[in-house]
Amino acid sequence: MSWKIHGENVRAMQEEIYLVSLKRRPVELVIENATVFNSITAEFLECQNVWVKNGTICYVGIDEDPVTDADTMMIDVQGKVLLPGLIEGHTHILNFIGPEEFIRHVIPSGTTTVVTETIELASVAGQEGFDYFIKALQDQPIRLYYTISPMCGLTLEEEVHSPPAEEYHKYLRDPLCLGLGEIYWANMLLENEQGKRVRKLAEMALSYGKLVEGHTAGASPNKLQAYTSMGVSSCHEPINGQEVIDRLRLGYWVMIRQGAIRQELDAVAGIFSRGVDTRRVVICTDSMDPERFINQGSLDAAVRRALELGVPPEKVYQSVTINVAEHFRLDNMLGSISPGKKADMVIIPEPGEYRPEKVICDGKLIFEDSRVTAKIRPSTYPEYFFNSVKPQPFDMPPVPQEGKVRVMDLVTRLVTTEGIADLDDPQQRKQLNLLLAIERTGRGGMFLGMIKGLGLKYGAAGTTMCWDTSDMFVAGCDEESIRAVVDRLEVIGGGAVVAVGSKILAEYPARLCGIVGLEDMETAWNQIQKTERALAELGVPWEKPILTLNTLGTAAIPHLRITHHGYVRLRDRAVLALQ
Ligand SMILES: [Fe+2]
Repeated sequence: MSWKIHGENVRAMQEEIYLVSLKRRPVELVIENATVFNSITAEFLECQNVWVKNGTICYVGIDEDPVTDADTMMIDVQGKVLLPGLIEGHTHILNFIGPEEFIRHVIPSGTTTVVTETIELASVAGQEGFDYFIKALQDQPIRLYYTISPMCGLTLEEEVHSPPAEEYHKYLRDPLCLGLGEIYWANMLLENEQGKRVRKLAEMALSYGKLVEGHTAGASPNKLQAYTSMGVSSCHEPINGQEVIDRLRLGYWVMIRQGAIRQELDAVAGIFSRGVDTRRVVICTDSMDPERFINQGSLDAAVRRALELGVPPEKVYQSVTINVAEHFRLDNMLGSISPGKKADMVIIPEPGEYRPEKVICDGKLIFEDSRVTAKIRPSTYPEYFFNSVKPQPFDMPPVPQEGKVRVMDLVTRLVTTEGIADLDDPQQRKQLNLLLAIERTGRGGMFLGMIKGLGLKYGAAGTTMCWDTSDMFVAGCDEESIRAVVDRLEVIGGGAVVAVGSKILAEYPARLCGIVGLEDMETAWNQIQKTERALAELGVPWEKPILTLNTLGTAAIPHLRITHHGYVRLRDRAVLALQ
C-alpha cells in the first residue's frame, strides 16, 4: 500500500468517493448481504451492503443498487459477518523472524493494521536500525505503523546505541509514527541522565501531539501516578482484573496481552462482565513467535480465546478495532465500517466464530480461499547488518571455587531474584551455571556471573537475540562448550547456539543484526524447536528457554539482570559483582 499522498490525486479520489455514494459514478467493490458489525454502536446489522471506491468505504446500508460497470467486483457474503479489519495495537514484528514472514502470516488473522515497536535492530545498529526497519514497513499490503523506541537500557552503558534526542524529531514528524514506544516506568523515574533522556523524549512526543506508550509492571501506586502524570496513556502489562481496573481509572488504554510471551486473557477476561466501560480495553499480542504463529495464530487466536471465555462478541471485536483506533487517534480512518473510512474488512461466518474467510485491506482482497493473495515487498539492509557479531577475543575470567557468590536466581522462566550461593556446599554448587555477558558489537567488555535454576547439566547455550542490549549471553558448565558457542555465534552471524564440548548440537541463525532470522516461518520453527529440544535434553526445564536467555539483560523484567559490566539490580540500578 502506498502511503505517498499527493494533494491533487487525493482531491480527485475524494471527489469520486462522494459521487459513488450519490450513484453518479460506478463503484469498485460491493459487498452484498452482509451482517455488518457496527463497532461504534456495538450492533450486528443484517442485510447491509457496503460500497467501496479508491480504498474507501462510500456507503453502508440497505441500498442494493449502486452504479456498477464492467470493473465492479461483487461479493455476496450471504449473511455472513463483516468486521472492520483487526488492529494489532502493540507488538514487536521482529521477534525471531523478518517483516515479510510476519506480514505473510499475520494477514490470514484478519489483521489489516499493525502498530509495532522498533527497538530490535536499533539496539545493535543504532539509528540505522530504526531507519531500515521503518523502510521495511512501507508499501506493504497491510498498514504498518510504528512507535519510535525510547531505547530504555539497564544502565547508560546499554543505551550507547540510542540516537541523540534531536534525532527523534524526524520520527515524531512522520505520519507513520504514532508516538514514543514503550517506556519502562522505572526508567522514566530515574534521577540520572537516563531518566532525563526518556522524560525529554516523552515531552517531545507530546509536543507533536503524539502518544507515549507505557509499561507499568510492578509500579507502586504513587510511582504509577507519577509516571502517568508525564503523559503516558497506555499499558500492556496488567496480569489481573484489578490491575486493569486500576489503570482504566487512571485514564489508560489498557492492552491485554495474548501472544507468544504471555497470555493474560484467562486471568483478565472477567473485567468484560464487571459492568465497567471497556471501550479503553484493547487485546494485543505484544509479539509472536514461529511456534505460536503456526500452532495457534496471532490476534485471531486471541480473539478466539476471548470468545471461548465467554466475552460478548461485540466487546471482543471492539477491543481489536475501534478501541485501538481511538487510542492511536486513527478512528477517523480505521476501526469502523462507515463512509469515509478505509475499506479494511474481514468476513467471518458468524459473530461467535472468528475464522476469517476473506480479508480486504484498502479495498483489495488480500486473503481468500486460505491463501494470501497480496504481494509482500522484500526489505533490504546494508551488508554490515549481517556482520554484527564481533566479540573481542577474551580470556575466560577465573571462576571462583569457594566461598559465597552472588547469583541470578530464576524464579520463573523470565523473572529472577538476587541470590547468594555457597560454593562450599556441593548441593548449591550443582544448581549453578556460569553466565557470561559479552559485548558483541566490537566495543569490548565482558562479565562472568552465575545463574541458578537454568538447569544445564553439561554443555553451554548462548544467544545474541537479547532484548534491549547489544550484549550476548552464554550460560554453560565448562569453558570448552562456552567457547564453542561464542565462536559459532560469531560464524553464523548471531542467533542461538547449543554445544557440548566442541560439538554444536543445534542452532537458530539470526543474521540480521544477530537479532532476526531470515528463513521462512516453517524453517525458523524447525530450527527453534531443535534448539529448544537440545536445551531440554541438557536439563533446562523451562518452556521456550531461548526466551529465558534473550531476556537476561532487559530492564523490563525484575529483579537482578546482567550486562557485560556486572549484574544490575533493577530496583536501584546498582552494578554488582559476582563476589
Ligand atoms: Fe512490548
